[in-house]
Amino acid sequence: MSATLMDGRAVSAAVRDKLALRVRELEAEGVKPHLAVVLVGEDPASQIYVRNKERACEKLGIRSTVLRLCAECTQAELEDTVRKLSADPQVHGILVQLPLPRHLDATPVIALIDPRKDVDGFTPVNAGKLLNGEKGFVACTPGGVMEILRHYDVPICGRNAVVVGRSNIVGKPMALLLLAQNATVTICHSRTKNLAQMTRGADILVAAVGKAGFITADMVKPGAVVVDVGINRVNGQVVGDVDFESVSEVAGFLTPVPGGVGQMTITMLLKNTLDAARLQMK
Ligand code: GUN
Repeated sequence: MSATLMDGRAVSAAVRDKLALRVRELEAEGVKPHLAVVLVGEDPASQIYVRNKERACEKLGIRSTVLRLCAECTQAELEDTVRKLSADPQVHGILVQLPLPRHLDATPVIALIDPRKDVDGFTPVNAGKLLNGEKGFVACTPGGVMEILRHYDVPICGRNAVVVGRSNIVGKPMALLLLAQNATVTICHSRTKNLAQMTRGADILVAAVGKAGFITADMVKPGAVVVDVGINRVNGQVVGDVDFESVSEVAGFLTPVPGGVGQMTITMLLKNTLDAARLQMK
């Protein structure tokens, strides 16, 4: 292997140490940060993610409450739940775990989250702020990727960055964050022609496609920084969107899965929750 591995666990631990100090500061001022998570239905992956979020909160000293709604709940019930959380002064952060069951529409639900409590950065207000280059809550996974790049002193200004994937949760905010740091950004997706030709031009390549082993060595420029956002389950194992074995021979830097970006997603959620608590004290 020639690539240097970018260790999300180590970056995460360093950031969480700093966050622990901020929790104590808030406590000294009489505030215990409180995250409310809305979980609809019984999607096994979502249940695991939510449990991991609860554990991380507890470990750091953040209060977390999980509101569980049954898989058959109505749009009105879900919207009512979020409306109440937005109005509740005891709640600093709100997260609606996605995906929702098919009969529910996430867009109007997310729009009901008070932007000051929007620790996922998914509301139109915070997404718009990112687009305009204003300060706001940034989606946790792309925010975590930027933190990893910063930790490893990856130069971004003037580099070619290619993001594969255009979701609202990862691809689009990822591209905007790289653009804000003056990268030349290309967004590729399932309809992109000559994908390998595009990705081979990348100094920084972010894979957020949701397909196991999708990015292979022939798609990577020698020495490139490759960030793997994928979390795919194959034969009971968690693997990324990057074919680790071949790409680790070509890339200069690479995030492993597990132990890469995934760790940072929850860390950024914790950070956003503390930011939200602080913001609401003003
Ligand atoms: N489902 C997968 N990733 C996420 C995330 O970052 N936030 C929420 N709310 N749901 C998700």
